[in-house]
Amino acid sequence: MNAVVVFESLWGNTAAVARAIADGIGPGTRVLSTSEATPQVVADAGLLVAGCPVIAFGVPTQQRLEGVRTEVGRAPSDPDLTQPPMHQWLDGLAQGTGRCAAFDTRVRGPFGSASPKVLRATERLGYRSVVKPEALHVSGKYGPLRDGELDRARRWGQDLGRQSA
Ligand SMILES: Cc1cc2nc3c(=O)[nH]c(=O)nc-3n(C[C@H](O)[C@H](O)[C@H](O)COP(=O)(O)O)c2cc1C
Repeated sequence: MNAVVVFESLWGNTAAVARAIADGIGPGTRVLSTSEATPQVVADAGLLVAGCPVIAFGVPTQQRLEGVRTEVGRAPSDPDLTQPPMHQWLDGLAQGTGRCAAFDTRVRGPFGSASPKVLRATERLGYRSVVKPEALHVSGKYGPLRDGELDRARRWGQDLGRQSA
């Protein structure tokens, strides 16, 4: 199976989760940022997994990232704002015939979500979802990931790999 995990990550938490999920799915799974995952690269994916942080209660958009720009200099480290926000990446994604899944990273609490919307967007393009959207938790606004979340991400990836085989 040709599996691709695509992520947007400003402070690295979602990138780390994406790598753990790919690990769980199995050897050969590619992990690509939204700037690397061009439509041609993901066109023939048998399993497309997409993930991003929850920002301002939802999927990162150009507008939501304006809020993140004000964090530069205030956050413990500068965010990586070089990748297209997930919303924009989904807008450029072509129709697909493979399976799909989605995850997000967020603080614990009723502060919005991104993965259900990301999953719906890929389903609208023809991908078929395998499992429910997943959330992995950080302990503060910028991270780090809570203890055990990378293991949970790896197990989610294993499950995904099994169900997509
Ligand atoms: C400006 C900003 C806004 C955020 N908004 C939310 C939010 O609305 N809901 C939430 O659950 N987490 C929110 N978070 C927490 C991030 O989703 C969380 O830290 C995420 O893991 C960051 O992922 P990254 O390191 O891959 O960028 C916010 C963080 C920042 C810096």
